[in-house]
This record gives sequence, C-alpha cells and structure tokens, in this order.
Amino acid sequence: MHRLSAIVARGLRRTYGGTTALDGIDLDVRPGTVRGLLGPNGAGKTTAVRILTTLLRPTGGRAEVAGFDVVTHPRQVRRSIGLVGQHAAVDEQLTGRQNLELFGRLSRLGAKAARARAAELLERVGLDHAGPVSAYSGGMRRRLDLAAGLILAPSVLFLDEPTTGLDPRSRADLWRAVRELAAGGTTVLLTTQYLEEADQLADRITVVDAGRVVAEGTPGELKARLGGERLVVVVRDAERLAQAAAIVGRATSAAPEVDQDTRRVSAGVGTEGVRVLTAALTALSEAGIEAEDVTLRRPTLDEVFLDLTGGDAR
Ligand SMILES: Nc1ncnc2c1ncn2[C@@H]1O[C@H](COP(=O)(O)OP(=O)(O)O)[C@@H](O)[C@H]1O
Ligand SMILES: [Mg+2]
Repeated sequence: MHRLSAIVARGLRRTYGGTTALDGIDLDVRPGTVRGLLGPNGAGKTTAVRILTTLLRPTGGRAEVAGFDVVTHPRQVRRSIGLVGQHAAVDEQLTGRQNLELFGRLSRLGAKAARARAAELLERVGLDHAGPVSAYSGGMRRRLDLAAGLILAPSVLFLDEPTTGLDPRSRADLWRAVRELAAGGTTVLLTTQYLEEADQLADRITVVDAGRVVAEGTPGELKARLGGERLVVVVRDAERLAQAAAIVGRATSAAPEVDQDTRRVSAGVGTEGVRVLTAALTALSEAGIEAEDVTLRRPTLDEVFLDLTGGDAR
C-alpha cells in the first residue's frame, strides 16, 4: 500500500446478494487533497464511502484510511475520520450550537471542550444563527452537518453527496467551507453526481460507473481526454448554412456537425485551434458569409462524462 496516501483501495468489491455494487475499485488519495468520486445514481459511491468509513465490510479487496486497514483496524480508522452523510441526525428543537455541543459530548469531549469546539466550528462554517434547527434553510442544515462531521478534527473527511437538493447559493457556501477545510490540510473525499461540483472542488476526479472506475485524473486531464478543442460557428443567415459547413469542413479537415435550428456549425480542431479558426474565418469572410458568433472551446466535463459512461456526448 502507498505510504503517502490518506486513502488507499485495492480491488475493492462489494456484492449484495446477486448485485455487484463495487466491482474492484482502486483509489489513491494524497493527504490534503480533495478527491471527487463522480458517478450516476447506483454507481456504487455510497457503498464505497460506507466501506471506507468502516460501516460496511467489503466482500473483496482491501482499503486503508489514514494508514489503517478498514477491516482489521476499524476503531483507529473511525478516530481519524469524519463522515457527512446525506441525512445527519440533528435535534430539530435545539440550536445549531446546542447540537454541536451534544455531538461533542457524545464524542467524549468534556463540557468545556465541547463548548469551545462548537463555537469554533460554527464560525468555521459561517453559522451564527441562534434559532432552532427547525428554522434553518437547507443550506444552513448542510453546513451544520458539515460542522458535525468535523467535531473530532478528522484528518480525512467523507462527504456523500453534500449538496444534493441545495439551491445554488447554499451550494456555493458549502463549496467554500470545503475549500477552506482542504486548505487547512484535511483530506476530503466527496461523492457527487454533479460534474460542475467535481470540476469546482476536486483536485482529482475518479469517475465511477456500475461499480468500476472508468476514468481518473484532474478535471483538466479528463477534459483533454476527449481530444482537443471544437470550433463552433453560428451563421447569421440560415440560407448560407450548408456553404458555411463546407468551408468549416475544409478548414478543420473534419466532418462538421450542422444544427439547422441554431444555425450552428461545429467541428473538432485537434490542437490546431487558433490556426484553424483563423483559416475558417478568412474563408467565410471571402465567401461573404457573416458569422454571428465564433467560439473555440474545450469539451465540457458533461461531454467527457457522457462519453466515458457510454452516453452520447453530443
Ligand atoms: N443494502 C443494499 N442491498 C442491495 N443492493 C444495494 C444495497 N445498497 C446498494 N445497493 C445496490 O448497489 C448499487 C450501488 O449503490 P450505491 O452505492 O448506493 O450507489 P450510489 O451511491 O452511487 O448511488 C446499486 O445498484 C444499488 O441498488
Ligand atoms: Mg449514494
């Protein structure tokens, strides 16, 4: 196993009766980094988190968290981690501060230490609301969940779909809190179905589908895998669309895609983006075809994801 990793998994498997939830997952997460475990519903994300947090035994393979084997040393693992699930058990009648103090006491902190820790965490996640949790917004609740997962200052924090169902503003607040944690040295493993979330937060992304890792890399590397940039031209006059497509096709040496409704012609340009764009614009201009919009863009993570998981990227 890799000594420099906060989380290591080798051939991790889990079956439920006849269902294979995890089909041999490998992971190496370096300390102090944020790893996104990205995959559609049913991909095996929660199963992986439950195994890594010792709540579930693997049926094959092995894993270490914070240097401890999750099967043979579960207590040491639990002392090193925090877990924020999709639904945390907070008392609705109590304030956030009271809930955190309670969590602290349940984690065997003394009364004074629990009070101090609660105050520190409330500030950390930007929650100074004095009212009962029943009056919290979804975003405030999720930040309280996050604070609860941090009570014991874990070196590795697991977040299972932390922003599912949150509005964009609350999501951004939570992202900020996670970034601050990572900047403070905490290793974070976060599962998500949201490509943008992985793109925004993760140093590296592991894409899982049907219990397997289908890709791994930085967001930039994953995008680059789809092979270079695309030139997109929106033609002002729909009548000239076919002619424009022919010109773009010659400039890019690729079969362009044409969308009648949006008057859009697009084609892959490999690594020659700027040269091809210049050539295409010159040729369009010489033919008297007016472009309403011209862009050169990398594939989005959505396109990468769809490509990797077998969907149609376009
Ligand atoms: N307790 C269980 N019993 C039977 N099948 C399960 C159980 N938990 C999960 N599964 C199945 O395992 C697969 C992975 O589930 P899960 O890990 O929850 O995926 P995700 O969190 O990525 O949505 C799914 O097919 C799911 O139906
Ligand atoms: Mg899940």
